[in-house]
Amino acid sequence: MALDLNDYIASYKDFPEKGIMFRDISPLLEDGQAYKQATDEIVNYARERKVDMVVGPEARGFIVGCPVAYDLGIGFAPARKKGKLPGKTVKASYGLEYGESSLYLHEGAVKPGQRVLVTDDLLATGGTISATIELVEDLGGIVVGTAFLIELADLHGRDKIKGYDMLSLMKY
Ligand code: PRP
Ligand code: ADE
Repeated sequence: MALDLNDYIASYKDFPEKGIMFRDISPLLEDGQAYKQATDEIVNYARERKVDMVVGPEARGFIVGCPVAYDLGIGFAPARKKGKLPGKTVKASYGLEYGESSLYLHEGAVKPGQRVLVTDDLLATGGTISATIELVEDLGGIVVGTAFLIELADLHGRDKIKGYDMLSLMKY
């Protein structure tokens, strides 16, 4: 029987700062069946969209994207925060629900024309996913889908990625 994945999300009021309701995926990750069910749903989505590369932003985008890439036997490229990637990179800056940041991707991590799935644990304002999409497109990749465990509907991140197909497993 399929699990209700909502039962595996913990909510913390005023974290990491006042006014934020933090949606924590730790219980889902700690339960093998829940993590597998969530991963399998994203794998099926990726298969339908004929994805040949997965890209996820540091850090929680790795947790969602890596098992999907592993299951499909395709590559995963990490979009990392400042000062983490050696070698030549492309850069994109963005604003967050709390703070500001930039992401980097190795030049050559995505080949021109590759069909890319971008993954993250959660869509809030859409800043992180938009920056990740920008990096993939800078390198000539085609973003054929985006996949999240959680979408925070009130923050309208979905509007920032209107032109892209999107899968979210849970909505708050
Ligand atoms: C969180 C989350 C998403 C992003 C969503 O990451 O994992 O990547 O915020 O917010 P947005 O839609 O407003 O951009 P965070 O930057 O806190 O980094 P972490 O994964 O390293 O904790
Ligand atoms: N990333 C950005 N906003 C978040 C939230 N409310 N909960 C968990 N992760 C987040």
